[in-house]
Amino acid sequence: MSVIWRNVGPLAGIPLRGARRLCFGHRSQPIAVFRTGADQIFALIDECPHKKGPLSEGLISGETVTCPLHNWTIDLGTGLAQAPDIGATQPLPVRIENGDILVGLPEAQSAAA
Ligand code: FES
Repeated sequence: MSVIWRNVGPLAGIPLRGARRLCFGHRSQPIAVFRTGADQIFALIDECPHKKGPLSEGLISGETVTCPLHNWTIDLGTGLAQAPDIGATQPLPVRIENGDILVGLPEAQSAAA
Protein backbone atom coordinates (compact mmCIF):
# COMPACT_ATOMS: atom_id res chain seq x y z
CA MET A 1 0.00 0.00 0.00
CA SER A 2 1.32 3.39 -0.98
CA VAL A 3 1.12 5.98 1.80
CA ILE A 4 1.62 9.70 2.19
CA TRP A 5 3.22 10.74 5.46
CA ARG A 6 1.35 13.47 7.29
CA ASN A 7 2.67 15.39 10.30
CA VAL A 8 -0.03 15.31 12.99
CA GLY A 9 1.78 17.33 15.65
CA PRO A 10 4.19 16.89 18.53
CA LEU A 11 4.48 13.66 20.49
CA ALA A 12 4.17 15.77 23.64
CA GLY A 13 0.65 16.72 22.51
CA ILE A 14 -0.64 13.27 23.45
CA PRO A 15 -0.36 12.24 27.11
CA LEU A 16 0.90 8.80 28.14
CA ARG A 17 -1.97 6.26 27.85
CA GLY A 18 -3.83 8.89 25.81
CA ALA A 19 -5.10 9.24 22.28
CA ARG A 20 -6.06 11.87 19.74
CA ARG A 21 -8.74 11.70 17.05
CA LEU A 22 -7.89 13.21 13.69
CA CYS A 23 -10.15 13.96 10.76
CA PHE A 24 -8.82 14.85 7.34
CA GLY A 25 -11.92 15.84 5.44
CA HIS A 26 -15.54 14.81 5.39
CA ARG A 27 -15.06 11.81 3.08
CA SER A 28 -12.18 10.23 4.96
CA GLN A 29 -12.40 7.97 7.99
CA PRO A 30 -11.26 9.40 11.34
CA ILE A 31 -7.89 8.28 12.63
CA ALA A 32 -6.88 7.60 16.22
CA VAL A 33 -3.27 8.10 17.31
CA PHE A 34 -2.43 6.35 20.59
CA ARG A 35 0.47 6.81 23.01
CA THR A 36 0.96 3.89 25.39
CA GLY A 37 2.30 3.99 28.94
CA ALA A 38 5.59 2.65 27.54
CA ASP A 39 5.73 5.63 25.16
CA GLN A 40 4.95 3.70 22.00
CA ILE A 41 2.88 5.30 19.26
CA PHE A 42 0.23 3.52 17.18
CA ALA A 43 -2.44 4.65 14.73
CA LEU A 44 -5.69 2.95 13.76
CA ILE A 45 -8.77 3.92 11.82
CA ASP A 46 -10.90 5.27 14.68
CA GLU A 47 -13.73 2.80 14.25
CA CYS A 48 -14.20 -0.27 16.40
CA PRO A 49 -14.74 -3.42 14.28
CA HIS A 50 -17.88 -4.15 16.31
CA LYS A 51 -20.15 -1.12 15.75
CA LYS A 52 -17.70 1.65 14.87
CA GLY A 53 -17.20 2.92 18.43
CA PRO A 54 -14.56 5.66 18.81
CA LEU A 55 -11.44 3.76 19.88
CA SER A 56 -9.72 7.09 20.57
CA GLU A 57 -12.01 7.39 23.62
CA GLY A 58 -11.11 3.93 24.90
CA LEU A 59 -8.92 2.79 27.78
CA ILE A 60 -5.33 1.98 26.80
CA SER A 61 -3.65 -0.91 28.59
CA GLY A 62 -0.28 -2.20 27.41
CA GLU A 63 -0.59 -2.40 23.62
CA THR A 64 -4.38 -2.69 23.54
CA VAL A 65 -7.33 -0.34 23.72
CA THR A 66 -10.74 -1.22 25.14
CA CYS A 67 -13.63 0.21 23.15
CA PRO A 68 -15.75 2.59 25.26
CA LEU A 69 -19.04 1.25 23.87
CA HIS A 70 -19.12 -2.50 24.54
CA ASN A 71 -15.63 -3.28 25.87
CA TRP A 72 -14.10 -5.15 22.96
CA THR A 73 -10.31 -5.14 23.25
CA ILE A 74 -8.34 -4.18 20.13
CA ASP A 75 -4.62 -4.76 19.55
CA LEU A 76 -3.02 -1.40 18.77
CA GLY A 77 -0.37 -2.91 16.51
CA THR A 78 -2.52 -5.18 14.35
CA GLY A 79 -5.99 -3.68 14.81
CA LEU A 80 -7.32 -7.17 15.57
CA ALA A 81 -10.08 -7.72 18.11
CA GLN A 82 -8.97 -10.01 20.91
CA ALA A 83 -10.73 -13.35 21.43
CA PRO A 84 -13.50 -14.24 21.83
CA ASP A 85 -14.41 -11.30 19.57
CA ILE A 86 -13.58 -11.34 15.87
CA GLY A 87 -12.85 -8.45 13.54
CA ALA A 88 -10.26 -5.81 12.81
CA THR A 89 -9.79 -2.14 12.22
CA GLN A 90 -7.06 -0.93 9.90
CA PRO A 91 -3.69 -0.07 11.47
CA LEU A 92 -1.68 2.76 9.93
CA PRO A 93 2.11 3.19 9.93
CA VAL A 94 3.53 5.81 12.29
CA ARG A 95 6.98 7.24 12.93
CA ILE A 96 8.50 10.00 15.02
CA GLU A 97 10.58 12.67 13.33
CA ASN A 98 12.12 15.58 15.24
CA GLY A 99 9.63 15.09 18.06
CA ASP A 100 6.60 15.11 15.74
CA ILE A 101 4.29 12.20 14.94
CA LEU A 102 3.94 11.27 11.28
CA VAL A 103 1.08 9.01 10.18
CA GLY A 104 1.19 7.16 6.89
CA LEU A 105 -2.17 7.75 5.23
CA PRO A 106 -3.33 5.58 2.35
CA GLU A 107 -3.15 7.71 -0.79
CA ALA A 108 -6.94 7.62 -1.26
CA GLN A 109 -7.48 8.89 2.31
CA SER A 110 -4.88 11.57 1.92
CA ALA A 111 -6.45 12.77 -1.33
CA ALA A 112 -9.74 13.33 0.53
CA ALA A 113 -8.05 15.74 2.94
S1 FES B 1 -18.59 -0.62 19.18
FE1 FES B 1 -16.75 -1.22 20.10
S2 FES B 1 -17.26 -2.86 21.35
FE2 FES B 1 -19.13 -2.33 20.37
